[in-house]
Amino acid sequence: MRVIQALLIPSVAWAASLPSPDVDSRSAPDVQPLQQSAKTVSLSQVENKNYQGEDPSVELIRTFVKYGKPLTPGLSEAIERNPDLNARFKSYIGGDGNTGTVKASPPALFDIQYVVPVQIGTPPQRTYLNLDTGSADFWTFSTDTYRPMVRNQTLYKPNASNTSKLLKGEAWNIRYGDGAGASGIVYEDRVQVGSTFFNKQGVQSAVQVSFEISRDSFASGIMGMAMKGINTVRPTPQHSYFENILDSLEEPVFTANLQKGRPGNYNFGYINDKEYMGNITYAPLLTDTHFWEVNVTGYQVDGSPYKPMVWNALVDTGTSLLIVPDNIVEDYYTSVEGAAYDPRRGMMLVPCKVKLPDFYFGIGDYRGKIPGHYINYGKADNSYCYGGIQATDPQGPSVLGDILLKAQFVVFDGGKNAVGFANKQLLPPPKVPNGI
Ligand SMILES: *[C@@H]1O[C@H](CO)[C@@H](O)[C@H](O)[C@H]1NC(C)=O
Ligand SMILES: *[C@@H]1O[C@H](CO)[C@@H](O)[C@H](O)[C@H]1NC(C)=O
Ligand SMILES: *[C@@H]1O[C@H](CO)[C@@H](O)[C@H](O)[C@H]1NC(C)=O
Ligand SMILES: *[C@@H]1O[C@H](CO)[C@@H](O)[C@H](O)[C@H]1NC(C)=O
Ligand SMILES: *[C@@H]1O[C@H](CO)[C@@H](O)[C@H](O)[C@H]1NC(C)=O
Repeated sequence: MRVIQALLIPSVAWAASLPSPDVDSRSAPDVQPLQQSAKTVSLSQVENKNYQGEDPSVELIRTFVKYGKPLTPGLSEAIERNPDLNARFKSYIGGDGNTGTVKASPPALFDIQYVVPVQIGTPPQRTYLNLDTGSADFWTFSTDTYRPMVRNQTLYKPNASNTSKLLKGEAWNIRYGDGAGASGIVYEDRVQVGSTFFNKQGVQSAVQVSFEISRDSFASGIMGMAMKGINTVRPTPQHSYFENILDSLEEPVFTANLQKGRPGNYNFGYINDKEYMGNITYAPLLTDTHFWEVNVTGYQVDGSPYKPMVWNALVDTGTSLLIVPDNIVEDYYTSVEGAAYDPRRGMMLVPCKVKLPDFYFGIGDYRGKIPGHYINYGKADNSYCYGGIQATDPQGPSVLGDILLKAQFVVFDGGKNAVGFANKQLLPPPKVPNGI
């Protein structure tokens, strides 16, 4: 039996004044037994004043790039109007008629919200990776990485692992549409997360990383938890860590219990009934998807009746925002006094002072609740804040990102091929200066 509980560290992507851990405080967490053969990793959270995150418009555009989807007309227009966005994404909107054909890629490191402690090699080398359910690459900074691009990231040292083996002729390459990206070579090595492990994990070692990725030292790579079909290693795509450990888990599941502004946790191999309320409702995965992608069957904005409407959505811990069809966005912000679309940013803004309505998503009879204050995504200027719910169109991706996931208990079930949701007891938000 192998079950683990790994405590997570939230980092707030771009609000520099919010609490988030600094590098030193997480250098040596203790591993303590939680229950029989289970492990918990406790990591303290402290303020990281140096952390400069990313512009939410960039985050939103990158999500479209991540899923290889064309931008909405609003986002394309924002790139035309806004010199900063234009400088970065011009090539993505230019050329092939506004349809980027970028393979599924992990989020840029500076968009990350959560990292998990991971051990690679023999003897184990501890590092911190971003657990991303929206990608399937397992990649890390390493002694192969071009040195000037290494900041404070932990380096995987294949030469110091007596179980590492170079996979000759294998390579990987991830691009984000604005020059940001990473690429490199591939080893096979032992990987351990809590008490789970796999001896022949494909470990993608970064040789080149772009400046944007280099800049963030909070994570040293990404642990993608989607399916092999979207892994970027060529010529032989690799299985994700979750696929590799699936058979060794007591139950073929992992669960996400992300929290707003504080550490949350992932559990592997079991469902902790204390982490949610009521029953878990499962939505089957769509056929022919390599993502954790399900149908949502309706929504409700607090104060209005529930509206049935089927739309398919990706359940993605590596995306910050909740991205939904544009009619839902319109419905939601119509009930927010002073809400406005900012064409320069390509995003909905709300007056920071306004009380936002709760949002519910439906799966059958289930109603998942996202409290209004979870939907304030932080300051855009002195009076306006970014809305945590943003729009896609029928060609674009709908994404149940961290805005929603933080308010839910979520089960990624590789046996049932389904994603389960339950409401949970939400803790009061920590008091922080800019109030998100
Ligand atoms: C590999 O490293 C482990 C841990 O240090 C050690 O126990 C083992 O004997 C080593 N194996 C080889 C083949 O060197
Ligand atoms: C690792 O070892 C190989 C073979 O001994 C050597 O060629 C290579 O330069 C070493 N790489 C690093 C990064 O130390
Ligand atoms: C990197 O680590 C050094 C020393 O621990 C610290 O002074 C510096 O602020 C860190 N830089 C970043 C970007 O975290
Ligand atoms: C959970 O499901 C069981 C069995 O279907 C049902 O009896 C029970 O009332 C449900 N509990 C809640 C809180 O919905
Ligand atoms: C998702 O919804 C579409 C459109 O209604 C439907 O064709 C499809 O069968 C549904 N798939 C699942 C897995 O619910």
